[in-house]
Amino acid sequence: MAVFITGVAGFIGCNLARAMLERGEEVAGFDNLCRGSAANLEPLRRRAAFSFERIDLADIDAYRRALGALHARSPITEVWHLAANSDIPAGTADPNVDLRDTFMTTFNTLLLMKELRIATLAFASSSAVFGDRGGRKLSEDEGPLLPISNYGAMKLASEAAISAALETHLERALVFRFPNVIGVPATHGVILDFVRRLRAAPGELEVLGDGNQQKCYLHVEEMVDAMLFIRAHARDKLNCFNVGADDEGASVRFIAEQVVRRIAPQARISFGAGPAGWPGDVPRFSYSIAKLARLGWRPRQTSAQAVSRAVDEIAVQEGAA
Ligand SMILES: NC(=O)c1ccc[n+]([C@@H]2O[C@H](COP(=O)([O-])OP(=O)(O)OC[C@H]3O[C@@H](n4cnc5c(N)ncnc54)[C@H](O)[C@@H]3O)[C@@H](O)[C@H]2O)c1
Repeated sequence: MAVFITGVAGFIGCNLARAMLERGEEVAGFDNLCRGSAANLEPLRRRAAFSFERIDLADIDAYRRALGALHARSPITEVWHLAANSDIPAGTADPNVDLRDTFMTTFNTLLLMKELRIATLAFASSSAVFGDRGGRKLSEDEGPLLPISNYGAMKLASEAAISAALETHLERALVFRFPNVIGVPATHGVILDFVRRLRAAPGELEVLGDGNQQKCYLHVEEMVDAMLFIRAHARDKLNCFNVGADDEGASVRFIAEQVVRRIAPQARISFGAGPAGWPGDVPRFSYSIAKLARLGWRPRQTSAQAVSRAVDEIAVQEGAA
């Protein structure tokens, strides 16, 4: 009996796999390593209860063969679908990126779950499904949902396909609307970007946008804890939850200052003009996490505390003293 994780070699996937293994579960994962890495899996591969295959989930024939064989060896009880494009500007530049890696990976996963009669799906959705709501606190029943990035559109389409599958072959779905999740091993995101740019050119940090972008951040350890809590306690057929810190978020200016202080205290920070960092960037968002609090889970850290912790961890990952 195994839990199957897609995108297992990515940032959140490898943290989730480790947490499940530590709880004594058997875990199998696929990833095509387009953004995740085999190095992220090194600590897991020594464990007998873990297995990994390099598979492109957008290639339905390869995915069908590999998943069918895995399910025959070790029946899959739950699918945790985390594979997606995580480079939002790349998906804005070329909409095919998110059609393929964000939507088709979901569509193919649902198709194979139907064929193999696997009835429980957990899905990594995103705040990007909401679009730009001007920083107002968002609850799960907010609507209409009008994403402003192709990534957000393909996450919303994935949620819609999951909802429809609950009418036919799925028995239970967990839909987690992630905030900005941070920590290590970082594969993308604003902190990693700032750390890398400052290490390459320690004199100045150029920030896209005016620095007033304000978003909700959660450390990956808390994110994994929340997902496993929801899995254990949510009782509906479709369980959709915003997961985040219980605050108004942290600003990009604050993040830039934290990274400069840690990496190159003498560096100057220069800001751009507009409120958004790039097309499709939602400048401000914050979550209502009342539904999750009612279920019994609350974050321990604020967005600012999560940022400070992740800056330190990512600095170490990138070789800063
Ligand atoms: N990190 C965040 O802040 C955040 C926020 C909202 C939602 N999410 C979602 O959480 C999930 C995990 O994100 P992450 O931060 O770990 O990103 P990540 O890029 O580190 O992990 C995603 C993984 O999916 C894999 N992948 C992509 N396309 C694939 C394909 N066609 N076949 C097989 N594997 C494929 C990548 O190689 C990568 O390892 C994603 O679905 C992402 O959209 C993340």
